[in-house]
Amino acid sequence: MTSQKGVTVWFTGLSGAGKTAIARYLEPILRERGLKVERLDGDVVRQSLTRDLGFSKEDRDKNIERVTFVAKLLTRNDVLVLLSFISPYRVMRDHARDEIGNFVEVYCYCTLEALMERDVKGLYKKAIAGEIPNFTGISDPYEEPLNPEVRIDSSTETLEESAAKVLAYLEEHGYVPPVPKLDGSTYTVEEEQLIEERLGALGYL
Ligand code: ADX
Repeated sequence: MTSQKGVTVWFTGLSGAGKTAIARYLEPILRERGLKVERLDGDVVRQSLTRDLGFSKEDRDKNIERVTFVAKLLTRNDVLVLLSFISPYRVMRDHARDEIGNFVEVYCYCTLEALMERDVKGLYKKAIAGEIPNFTGISDPYEEPLNPEVRIDSSTETLEESAAKVLAYLEEHGYVPPVPKLDGSTYTVEEEQLIEERLGALGYL
């Protein structure tokens, strides 16, 4: 087996834009390829490692600083890290990039209209009503990535399409081995997606 090269796939974007959904979608696919995968998610990490923190700029910076440290350790131990945090401040993301080294920034974009309409957690409604102060995108800043390795737009793409973009990038850059076919060649991301859809429809996934 070829040895795995560690990397942190850093999903950034507004709440509800698809960071967690894409990471969760990719996790079993990557495991299936024989990779060691760890997922770090803001909503989960904030219940343990950073449960003492709120949403002021200082606390968000601390949140990102701590999770950067964890991602750095995992990455240098050859783990593929799927990390989903709003991480609204560019300087903190750039610091993470410098610290971690093998770093793929995925900007999960979505229009505010679509986010407000979806509002899965009901937070936008509350934020607009003034019930949640400092809510990112409504009453708190989000600094867009200037040069992300991958940009997805969940207001125009399906989850499968967005995930395929990330997977393609990781394959092209040697972080994920392509799936070998019996004749020794490899499946394209589209072919693979089709196979997964078919297996899913048959109830195998
Ligand atoms: S970050 O800014 O420090 O990177 P993080 O990703 O950990 O944020 O947490 C964001 C999640 O916390 C959101 O998805 C949402 O569920 C919840 N949340 C609660 N209050 C806020 C707020 N004021 N702004 C943004 N998210 C909030």
